Amino acid sequence: MKTSTILTLAPLVGLALAAPSARYSHDIQTFARRDGPAGAHDEPAGGESHEGMDMGGEPAEGGHGGMSMPKGPSSFAELMEPGGIMDSIMPKGLKVMSTKQLTAETKVAGAKRMRIRYGPFKLKPSGSPQPWNPARMDPDGNEFSYIAEGFPKDVTILTTNSTLEYSNGTEADVNNGVYNHHFLFANQNKQAVNPIGCSNGNTSSGLPMSVIGGASEANRNTQFYVPDGSQNIGYYVSPNDQVRISSELANYSPIEKDIYEVTDIEYVEGKVPGSLESNLQQLSVTTCLGNAEMVEAPAGKKQFSFTADKLVIDKPGYILYRRGHLHDGGNDVSLTHNGKNICTSKAIYGGPKHTTVIDGKKWETIGEMTSCEDAVEVKPGDTLAVTASYDLDAHPAREHSGGGGMGGEMGLMVIMFAPK
Ligand SMILES: *[C@@H]1O[C@H](CO)[C@@H](O)[C@H](O)[C@H]1NC(C)=O
Ligand SMILES: *[C@@H]1O[C@H](CO)[C@@H](O)[C@H](O)[C@H]1NC(C)=O
Ligand SMILES: *[C@@H]1O[C@H](CO)[C@@H](O)[C@H](O)[C@H]1NC(C)=O
Repeated sequence: MKTSTILTLAPLVGLALAAPSARYSHDIQTFARRDGPAGAHDEPAGGESHEGMDMGGEPAEGGHGGMSMPKGPSSFAELMEPGGIMDSIMPKGLKVMSTKQLTAETKVAGAKRMRIRYGPFKLKPSGSPQPWNPARMDPDGNEFSYIAEGFPKDVTILTTNSTLEYSNGTEADVNNGVYNHHFLFANQNKQAVNPIGCSNGNTSSGLPMSVIGGASEANRNTQFYVPDGSQNIGYYVSPNDQVRISSELANYSPIEKDIYEVTDIEYVEGKVPGSLESNLQQLSVTTCLGNAEMVEAPAGKKQFSFTADKLVIDKPGYILYRRGHLHDGGNDVSLTHNGKNICTSKAIYGGPKHTTVIDGKKWETIGEMTSCEDAVEVKPGDTLAVTASYDLDAHPAREHSGGGGMGGEMGLMVIMFAPK
């Protein structure tokens, strides 16, 4: 894997899982203007500093008004610190802490289910200096990047589901001061297949990495198979593949925390004969229209939508599982295929884990996005369109500290694509 790819890993991750994209190097200005490296410091249970392009090493100076230039590391020692840039470039191995066999939940013949746990990951108290790492997006974000030893190999993965826990098994979440910017598993030996071309002469870059699983605040699971059994599809991890586990976990409380990353993997041993392979891709309301994936409310508007309608399929296959990703303020993301709606993924706000009070005001963040899971066959020349709609009256965009104004919005549709 190229170093440049590795450096973009972390931000990428949130992705589907959550967040932004590889293209961020073009967009420093946009990101900095929008989020500044401010974010969460004076907002204890803060969520969406997300995707804010903090170039690291600048603990919360408040919202930058304009271009934020990266500040370099202050010493060689800082480069080598755990959580610093060297961990991202040359990840060390991390042994799995425990594995446990569970009862399979899918009806696929031969399916098995395993729970793997990595940790503890130490989160510094809020406001602590963090080592220099350009991948960090939240000033309170703790970066981790390792090769996941003990990740199951020679298996065809059907689903994954990931959570963060304390040592006593309680979930670590916004309501107790931990914001999961992203945590993901990616296969270093594979590249995801991008099936999208553009009808306007631009190119869609696609995800430069092969995501296996992971979680962010609103999305915790991946699904590589078709539940109705109509197609034989999964994600194969070969015996020699190296799987990276990387995360950015923000601690908004003043005490150090030990966090464990727990993932349930449903799989079939070996490579299922005749099966196709699905991989995770991300479409955006900006795909084919330009690089930046963050969008901003049109001036003075509270209700608005964005559409990307220049997407053309250039490889035959199936679109499987699909799910939107939005920031607070978003209503839903929909996907059409040749003009016909094939999914509307709705944002579900609040609930016990995703509600908190900041400055005496109730804040409900997006805790879930609905999904669609039937297989849709696509062929070269077919068109897709992605539309995201927003209502900032119903769900205020997250404000950023330091007078940073409204947080940026996103409109992503994550799809599993299986080339034929
Ligand atoms: C994932 O795990 C969480 C926590 O155990 C659970 O609440 C949720 O229903 C699971 N989701 C799926 C899709 O299995
Ligand atoms: C588990 O540990 C967390 C973090 O220390 C704590 O906040 C929580 O109350 C504990 N839960 C139980 C049930 O003891
Ligand atoms: C193509 O992408 C560029 C940015 O890379 C953008 O400025 C331009 O408007 C896009 N072209 C069209 C026709 O949308």
